[in-house]
Amino acid sequence: MKPEDLNANGTLFGGSLLRWIDEEAAIYAIVQLGNRRAVTKYMSEIEFVASAVQGDIIEMGLTATAFGRTSLTMRAQVRNVITGELILSIDKIVFVNLGEDGQPTPHGYTEITYDRDRIPTPESTTPESPRRPQP
Ligand SMILES: CC(C)(COP(=O)(O)OP(=O)(O)OC[C@H]1O[C@@H](n2cnc3c(N)ncnc32)[C@H](O)[C@@H]1OP(=O)(O)O)[C@@H](O)C(=O)NCCC(=O)NCCS
Repeated sequence: MKPEDLNANGTLFGGSLLRWIDEEAAIYAIVQLGNRRAVTKYMSEIEFVASAVQGDIIEMGLTATAFGRTSLTMRAQVRNVITGELILSIDKIVFVNLGEDGQPTPHGYTEITYDRDRIPTPESTTPESPRRPQP
């Protein structure tokens, strides 16, 4: 936790935490669904249970709880590594797998992968969002 992550009370700014969770969930969804076009659709109730202060270290845990036809549902927990306290938990974060047309498209997966076998390759990067600058 750095100074820029604090609120006016001197404790963890909730907006920063939600940004980190959304970023982490996006990476998790991309790895699980093998598609960069995975977007946040829904987050269930969020309760900030405990806080953190400058210098604390926090850890985020995400687990896939359901594979739908076009969606992936995850659960998130954030803990304060220094105190061991639960800072926040979110029961449902839903990401939707999109096709090139921006519409929901079936991802075809039913189980979690613990490998990196679904990570999109450079070849699967579309011309509109190149991985590297084009010559
Ligand atoms: C993502 C988007 C294309 C989905 O469109 P949609 O019309 O809701 O699509 P669908 O009704 O076909 O639903 C797609 C999936 O989301 C699920 N879903 C839709 N609304 C949901 C909700 N409120 N809660 C949980 N899941 C939901 C559906 O069950 C479906 O999953 P399934 O195929 O696994 O059964 C559209 O809502 C969108 O563009 N939203 C903005 C996304 C975005 O920009 N996010 C960034 C943060 S703002």
